[in-house]
Amino acid sequence: MTTRTGSPTPNALQITGLRELGMSLGFAGAVRAAVRLGAPDALGDEPADVAAIASAIGADTETLDRLMRALTSHGVFEEVAERVYAHTASSRLLREDAPVGVRYMVLWATAPWTWRAWPRLDEAVRSGKAVFPDIYGKEFFAYLREEDAASAEVFDRAMTQSSAITSAAVAATLDLRGVGTVADIGGGQGHLLRTLLEADPALHGVLFDLEGVVAGADPALRPGGALAGRTRIIGGDCRQGIGAGADLYIYKNVLEWDDDSTLAALRSVTDAARPGARVALVQNLVDDSPEMKVTTTMDLFLLLNVGGRKHTRRSLAGLMERAGIEPGEVRPVPDTSLHVVEGTVADAAAGTGEGS
Ligand SMILES: C[S@@+](CC[C@H](N)C(=O)[O-])C[C@H]1O[C@@H](n2cnc3c(N)ncnc32)[C@H](O)[C@@H]1O
Repeated sequence: MTTRTGSPTPNALQITGLRELGMSLGFAGAVRAAVRLGAPDALGDEPADVAAIASAIGADTETLDRLMRALTSHGVFEEVAERVYAHTASSRLLREDAPVGVRYMVLWATAPWTWRAWPRLDEAVRSGKAVFPDIYGKEFFAYLREEDAASAEVFDRAMTQSSAITSAAVAATLDLRGVGTVADIGGGQGHLLRTLLEADPALHGVLFDLEGVVAGADPALRPGGALAGRTRIIGGDCRQGIGAGADLYIYKNVLEWDDDSTLAALRSVTDAARPGARVALVQNLVDDSPEMKVTTTMDLFLLLNVGGRKHTRRSLAGLMERAGIEPGEVRPVPDTSLHVVEGTVADAAAGTGEGS
């Protein structure tokens, strides 16, 4: 069927799809509210009446029922009888005690700062620049560390939670043959480094991240920890140098700033490395991801906060070449949305390195 103007009549599915897209801020708000209220933690293994859940978390029964009902339409909780709710596999992932969970990733994606930034996406698309500094008066990471300790903590936990899901698969995909020292730059609290060191008792590691982040590094890596003897922890800005020699430099989901910052970070590697040292960029690629909706939206999220981006294979290879790193193989990390983009520090680009 066509309209009088000759264009096809939109079908009900398209209308619903776009209505859902328009309401997706509300979906995010609902899942954030459930986590903040503690609903997933209050509900145990047995189904419970909404009044009991409301009483446990100090919420109004009627309005909690409305929130739970809204979430069931996304498969988060199930209404098994009138006003009686049970966990689903998804709602269990939101519990604080979930062995592998997404609670902090949800809290991070919906952090308070995001609610003032998304409405200005059109502005960011026009200018190609972040809107964050204009709204909050500081660069994103400086603001997070200096002004918004709660969001900074959620960020660090979200990164650790996300690493807990992928570290084993990333470790299995990385080629560590001939590697004596591995440096994880922007390695957060060190989940991946810990996984690598635990898997290979001869391996030494460097954890590099911002001062405030490495202060909360995994206790196993810190002085007195089981892996401390094989770990060096360095706090700093990797765009200004990393001062650590290694055989393999990992950047996992770090090279997502503006291109100048990404280049500076890559050049810090070539400055510190010996010729032939290897680089592994572990990334979600916007041109090849099993989670395309998340990856492409995260690409826009990065535009808003740091003026950054998720990369394609080609854009990453171009930046590597400009930094003096010869791009190599690109391999998917099984069962994740990540790829490992390999590279080798070219002879002419390499600095003195400190050796390993
Ligand atoms: C998206 S997180 C990824 C963390 C970790 N690699 C992972 O995959 O879980 C980006 C990391 O880069 C760190 N970072 C941001 N700016 C940095 C800088 N200028 N120098 C070093 N690390 C930085 C952040 O603190 C954060 O830990």
